[in-house]
Amino acid sequence: EKSEPLKIMISGAPASGKGTQCELITHKYGLVHISAGDLLRAEIASGSENGRRAKEHMEKGQLVPDEIVVMMVKDRLSQTDSEQNGWLLDGYPRSASQATALRGFGFQPDLFIVLEVPEDILIERVVGRRLDPVTGKIYHLKYSPPETEEIAARLTQRFDDTEEKAKLRLKTHNQNVRDVLSMYDDITIKEHRSKFTFKLNHSWYKPEEVLAQIDTTVSKLLQQRNTASSSL
Ligand code: AP5
Repeated sequence: EKSEPLKIMISGAPASGKGTQCELITHKYGLVHISAGDLLRAEIASGSENGRRAKEHMEKGQLVPDEIVVMMVKDRLSQTDSEQNGWLLDGYPRSASQATALRGFGFQPDLFIVLEVPEDILIERVVGRRLDPVTGKIYHLKYSPPETEEIAARLTQRFDDTEEKAKLRLKTHNQNVRDVLSMYDDITIKEHRSKFTFKLNHSWYKPEEVLAQIDTTVSKLLQQRNTASSSL
């Protein structure tokens, strides 16, 4: 019998490496990657009124209002691929009200990952980040430079990736992070497993090393689930 699909949330400051880890985790576990920031950027690209309003907030590093974000994420989580394969939710929830809304719709994660990285490193990562519009891959001019000249020539930068805007995003993050964490601190106590809110704060690790640590936690989670279901 196929076990329940995995449901994971990943949280962390701007440029803490959420997108990078999501690429690696989804590749390994076949989960559907749902990034609130990517959904919003797609909405902007569509030219809709919601997209226009979202951009005004994103330009200032503020949270986009719940009335735009909540249903957008809920609809994506409710699609068949997410329900069947499991999901990896990136950059949501960012406030207690967003967490409450999702819980109200019946979405609870099995694992809540928090990436913690010191602030000076975050700014360096934001400023050096580049994106490949063809493959969607995330690069860094210093830490993960493009493989070929051809890729290097087509890299783009996000509109909110300046030092000034990153500092505003960081401020918003710092104002909300504790509220969000407190909503997931007890994920497991209720379900009689060991604790599965996982904080990782070794900023000097390479992406593959961060993945290895996440992987250990995910394996442990899967093992506990198997044990729990076989003892029923
Ligand atoms: P969003 O797009 O989610 O941006 P963010 O939270 O600021 O996070 P980033 O995408 O900047 O960083 P990341 O953690 O994914 O890092 P990455 O892997 O790219 O949100 C944008 C905006 O949308 C928000 O400001 C807000 O306005 C709005 N929004 C989004 N969600 C919302 C919500 N729920 N509610 C309301 N508003 C919302 O890595 C960064 C760089 O570092 C890369 O160059 C990478 O190559 C490099 N790097 C990664 N890992 C390592 C490593 N281990 N060592 C060295 N370099 C590394």
